[in-house]
Parts: sequence; structure tokens; C-alpha cells
Amino acid sequence: MKSRVSPWASWGLCASFLLAVITGIIINYPYRAEIPLISTVGIEGTVPFGALFRYLHYYSGQLAFLLLIWHTTEALLGQSYRYRRPFFWTTLISTYPLTLLVLFTGYIIRGDETGLLAGRIAENLALKLPLIGELINRLLFAVMEEGAHRAYLAHVFLSWGLLVGLISWHFRLRRLELQDLALWASVALLLALLFPPSLEFAPLATHAKGPWFFLGIQEALRYFSPYLAGLLFPALPLLLLWLCKWWPKRAALGLLLWHVVYLSFTLVGALR
Ligand code: HEM
Repeated sequence: MKSRVSPWASWGLCASFLLAVITGIIINYPYRAEIPLISTVGIEGTVPFGALFRYLHYYSGQLAFLLLIWHTTEALLGQSYRYRRPFFWTTLISTYPLTLLVLFTGYIIRGDETGLLAGRIAENLALKLPLIGELINRLLFAVMEEGAHRAYLAHVFLSWGLLVGLISWHFRLRRLELQDLALWASVALLLALLFPPSLEFAPLATHAKGPWFFLGIQEALRYFSPYLAGLLFPALPLLLLWLCKWWPKRAALGLLLWHVVYLSFTLVGALR
């Protein structure tokens, strides 16, 4: 059956992700996980055009995530879950937590205050998971014991995993043209010029803010238990997306409500 999803979002997502990997390899050259903040700052001084590559890395990563949301929204509106095999729908949904983990570990390994805060919250939340919490924390974070090491390995391995396992699959449908990369690199560059991604050097304050996509959870953690706000609340939209196959209307309404609540938390968190 003919796909009802426009190629814009999926090609933009593939191009942005590939850009993030290419620029990641470049900025990885002087990076040392044992001195994260010093090496992040050093990238700008030691790599030719280092600041440019760092900014491109940052924004191509953010764009990949935003385009994933667009891609999923289109798939949802086009009712892909009805005419695609459950495997495809489940794969698209599982791309979310994996991409978010790549972004999240990216913030942790830059080693500034936002990254430190993100790392500490993530570690505490992971340890709240029954049975597998310790293992998840060992694999992905363990920032208290090992600093940025685990997060760095998770960042790089998950990126390659997503590229080889999911993104490259799209390249079999159509070849990624140079102009796709140029277009999305220009968008990332424009954003970088307008809003250069700054590092936070201020000492850890009581209301230091985590990454933008995490503000809603950070705010919800103020009112509810970590289990509810940090684990069940973020897992809910994934479950609802999955349930779309069986109860499309109810699940879509649930998703809409969830987003209204999440955006409200995010807004309060951003204004705090
Ligand atoms: C093989 C692939 C990759 C490598 C080797 C890599 C490497 C790195 C390194 C060394 C840093 C810390 C330095 C810095 O913050 O500038 C970093 C940060 C980051 N990475 Fe990656 N990365 C890769 C893929 C990705 C992908 C696919 C994404 C997103 C989808 C991503 C998103 C980020 C983000 C958001 C940051 C924080 C940037 C900042 O604010 O400075 N990375 N990455």
C-alpha cells in the first residue's frame, strides 16, 4: 500500500542523524571522558572549525529528535499502525527512548552544570527501577562512580546502533542525496548562528535546569514520587502509541492530553 507519510520528515530525520554522527566523529577526536568539560571547551580551541562542528553536532541532534516527532505524528495521522505490520510500528516507537538516550547522554558527557544535573537525576531514576535498575545504571550512567565514562560509551554505541539498525534501513528505499545533507546542515547552521548552544559554568544551584526536553519531567518530580513522575509518566506516551493499533481514538485522546500536561510542566519549569 502507498505510504501516507511525506518523505520530508523521514529524510530530514535520516539526514540530521547522519550529520550528528559525522560531526560526532569529528568532535570526538580531542574528547576525553575523564576530563569532559575541559575537552568540550577544548574542542573549540584544538579542532579546526571546532566550534562550528560542535554547534552543528548539537543542532543536528536536536533536529533529528524534532523530526522524529514530526515523522511519528504524520504516521499517526496517516494511520500507519493500521496498514503497517506491528513490527514497523513497534520499531518506530522504540526509536523514541533510544534517540532520547543518545541526546540525554550527549548532555551528560559535555560535563557542564546542565550535564551534571542531567546525569545525577538519570542515575537516581534508573536506580528506582525494580530488578533491572542497577544494571541499567551500570550500562548507561553510573556518573557518581565513573563520571562521564559510561554515558560516553552509551552515547557512541547507541548512535552507531541506531544508524546501522534503523536509519540505514531508509537508505535502501532511496539514496540519501548530498542536497538532503546540505539542506539540513544549513538549518542546523542557521539555528547555531541564531542561538549558539552555551555551556553552563555556574555552580550547581538548587534550581539548575536540565536539557529542554527533560524540563517537564524535572518539574513533575517536584510534585510526584520519582517512580510516578520519572518512570511511569514518561513511559505513558510510548504505551499509548502502541495501543493506537487497538484503540486508536482513545489512545490518540490520551496522547493529546499527555502532551498538554507535559507542555504545561515544561512551561512552568522553563519559567522557574
Ligand atoms: C558516532 C557518533 C557520535 C559521536 C562519536 C559523538 C560524540 C560526542 C561527544 C564527544 C560529545 C561531547 C562534546 C560536546 O558536547 O561537544 C557529544 C555531545 C553531544 N552529542 Fe554526540 N556523538 C555522536 C552521535 C550523536 C547523535 C546521533 C546525536 C543525536 C541524535 C548526538 C547528540 C549530542 C548532543 C545533544 C550533545 C551535547 C552537545 C553540546 O551541547 O555540546 N550525538 N557527542
